[in-house]
Amino acid sequence: MATHVDSLDIPKIPFLVGQTREERQEFLRTTAQGHWLAKNDIGYNVITYESVMGVLRDKRWHSATGLVAQIRGVTDEQFLSRRRVSILNAEGDVHVRLRRLVAPAFSPRSADRLRPFMQEVINSLVDPIAARGHGEFIAEVCEPYPIPIICELLGAPKDDWQFFSRVATDVLRVFSEDMAQQLHVIIAAQDELNAYSRTLIEQRRAIPRDDLLTDLISAEEAGDKLTTEELEMMVEAVIVGGTDTTRNQLGLAVALFAQHPHQWEQLANDPSLAPRAVEETMRYIGAVGGTVRFASEDIEYNDIFFPKGTFMSVSMSSGNFDTNVFPEPEVFDITRPPVGQPQLSFGAGIHYCLGASLARAELQEALVILSQRLPKLELDGDPEYKPSSVGIFGPSRLPIRCEPGH
Ligand code: HEM
Repeated sequence: MATHVDSLDIPKIPFLVGQTREERQEFLRTTAQGHWLAKNDIGYNVITYESVMGVLRDKRWHSATGLVAQIRGVTDEQFLSRRRVSILNAEGDVHVRLRRLVAPAFSPRSADRLRPFMQEVINSLVDPIAARGHGEFIAEVCEPYPIPIICELLGAPKDDWQFFSRVATDVLRVFSEDMAQQLHVIIAAQDELNAYSRTLIEQRRAIPRDDLLTDLISAEEAGDKLTTEELEMMVEAVIVGGTDTTRNQLGLAVALFAQHPHQWEQLANDPSLAPRAVEETMRYIGAVGGTVRFASEDIEYNDIFFPKGTFMSVSMSSGNFDTNVFPEPEVFDITRPPVGQPQLSFGAGIHYCLGASLARAELQEALVILSQRLPKLELDGDPEYKPSSVGIFGPSRLPIRCEPGH
């Protein structure tokens, strides 16, 4: 008979305001060592690679990302009902149907067709820093990088980049700690974005092109198609899922390489290392370190009973340091031999990152070009990081210097 989770004697994760990502990691690696499960303030936390995979692949654990708004004090029904139909937190048949319809449009082949454009964008952004030999990498490169790519992906014209950038900034306030106070700005931006998407959808219905929106419009399975509202939701999901994640992951990667100059040089000399460099960076420090689930029914897992409603934090970042899977996890090594099990920073199971191929392509193209154009990369002062409590983590300031003129 399974043991009730409340009766277990397991470590408790202290949630300290202002706690850094390193302090949290340190706790998970030391105090919680030997345990796959720990307690936290609102429920439990899976820590090991196997248990993280176990929960993410178990369909009885439903996404709780849509509940984050309520936890942060949002009560506006109009706002909450919009979020419930997003692919990011839909469940069951609704999610399966959406995912089946949209997945082919996010294939590695679709991402590959944007690689030349990614190279163009990253080269133009890095030109001033490469010439000067120093700069603030977040504002100059990370912040602007994803927007033109998302626009190109969707087929939005260059003239609309500014509009997209502004609306995306406001829509992305859903990740801020004070989102309840920012709700009117978020809702206004969502409305503007939906109106814009509707026009773009009408245009693509009239004249199809070679872009994601056209692919999504024509996506069909057994006579089923996405409605206009679902297409609008997908545009928003691409912005919410694909903008801040990519820019923070790139900032984390460059901060890490600035402290590992030999590997930066290795990558510059051998661009075929790019895919491994991206996986190792994301294993070592992911922009999305964890996600949240709740038990949609009573669940028995690993001989433990979790009553319906149990809240579960899923710590991909500690799973990525599990010594049973990644030997010497604290060593950052882009030539690490593949272990046959993926790093966890794109999640796993039915909500596995839909944009993973695109994100991989964006990061691979960026890192190769940056390693060649920013030789002798170094930190030019201490980086500043966002608080560890935000959903998407990364540096907020990253001053760098390098050998100029490349
Ligand atoms: C390095 C960059 C990225 C990281 C670290 C990342 C991480 C993740 C993670 C961890 C999840 C699963 C969340 C969960 O299970 O609760 C996810 C889902 C998702 N991501 Fe990404 N992501 C990245 C880039 C992108 C890009 C570029 C796009 C869009 C083009 C995107 C779109 C999505 C969508 C739509 C989902 C929801 C999928 C579903 O629920 O079926 N992501 N991402």
